[in-house]
Amino acid sequence: MGVPKYERPTLVRHVSGMMNKFSRVQAMRPLTHIDGVAVPNLVARFGSPLFVFSERTLVARYRELSDAFSLRFPRVRIAWSYKTNYLDGICRALHREGAWAEVVSAMEYEKARRNGIAGERILFNGPYKPDSALERAFSDGARVHLDHFDEVMAAEGVARRLGVRPKVAIRLNMAVTGAPPWSRFGFNLENGQAIEAVRRIRAGDALDVAALHCHLGTFIQDVSAYREQAAKLAEFANVLAREFGTFVEYVDIGGGFASRNTLHAQYLPGEQVTPSFAQYAEAVADGMAALKAPSGREPALVLETGRALVDEAGSLVTTVHANKRLPDGRRSLVVDAGANLLFTSFWYKHDIVPAQEFSGTPEPTVVYGPLCMNIDVIRDNLLFPPMATGDLLVIRNVGAYNVTQWMQFITERPGVVMVSRTGDVAPLRRRETVETLLAQEEVPPWLS
Ligand SMILES: Cc1ncc(COP(=O)(O)O)c(C=O)c1O
Repeated sequence: MGVPKYERPTLVRHVSGMMNKFSRVQAMRPLTHIDGVAVPNLVARFGSPLFVFSERTLVARYRELSDAFSLRFPRVRIAWSYKTNYLDGICRALHREGAWAEVVSAMEYEKARRNGIAGERILFNGPYKPDSALERAFSDGARVHLDHFDEVMAAEGVARRLGVRPKVAIRLNMAVTGAPPWSRFGFNLENGQAIEAVRRIRAGDALDVAALHCHLGTFIQDVSAYREQAAKLAEFANVLAREFGTFVEYVDIGGGFASRNTLHAQYLPGEQVTPSFAQYAEAVADGMAALKAPSGREPALVLETGRALVDEAGSLVTTVHANKRLPDGRRSLVVDAGANLLFTSFWYKHDIVPAQEFSGTPEPTVVYGPLCMNIDVIRDNLLFPPMATGDLLVIRNVGAYNVTQWMQFITERPGVVMVSRTGDVAPLRRRETVETLLAQEEVPPWLS
């Protein structure tokens, strides 16, 4: 028994307003270890801030998704959405589980090939595929998902030049309740553009429509959107079979499942309300029941789940740099990880927990990043216990999109590590230095 730790008294101004129905103080527990590895040890070894990925969580989420759908569909393929997180270590962990690759640029395509994925296991989406990218994809036998009529013509030109007849998919957009319309991508189903695209491709006699694709959007919490999407895709597949005798090889429902994060506008925490993979799968199965395909000609189901697979696997460890009292009385913390690293802080109320035992009265707290920019807010109102300079925090569920959309802005980007399923730790991306930055820069000869 040592001397009890001094705790400074605090005056907490009570702001009357909406209360959480579970009362104001939510139980918070420290997260001292990530998969058995002490957070301070990670920081001592790799510095702060630091992205830490749990291989165990990543693989568990993949298997949960795969099991939920395989239970309901005879043939399921998961194509890892590279844009969500294309660090090679993340991609390889998923490819080792059997994931294909879903890419939206020549750069992502190149990464997938270098990760050992054969062309036939790459699905190529996106509105911009230059001829050189189409050439590469067709030569490798990759599946190009056509986005617009100009791309149909470009793809035909490339196929003829190469002397190949590729199987392609067409991307559809459609109106479903529960998801905002992403009508800028693909061919519209309701206004007849989609069937027109199929007729046009058939008339061109250079490509074969062999699959359907539709990505509804992202962070879709309403599973009924997928029921409706699947039913519409099934019905369209029925039309192709009826009118042209075409039985599609796969129906790709895209990504979009919500992770367990909480949106700014959301009342209940994501941990409580985000649908499970099984609930999404059930809705898709309901919708797909509309499909009429002869035995042996049923299409495979393809998923391009990104966010919901990797978000929970990623944490961002950050250090408290300062405590500061704002003029309106609120407490604020300045931490060393900012919005340049955490693009998702604009959408989510990120879950932030101390990485060490704590005590003291929680207070409404604003968490600021280190940037000299007003927008650099990680959480604008968080009930948080007192923290001292040098204390570590863990920002949870940040594995999706942040390490692809982060910016090298004002300061260098931090390191990224993975904790293996056996508790080993290895870097996925080295911490940047000023040299990383300068390596890309040139000074014109007249200024050097
Ligand atoms: C075509 C396509 N597929 C899959 C995804 C992954 O989506 P999510 O991360 O919401 O699952 C995206 C993301 O925008 C996408 O554009």
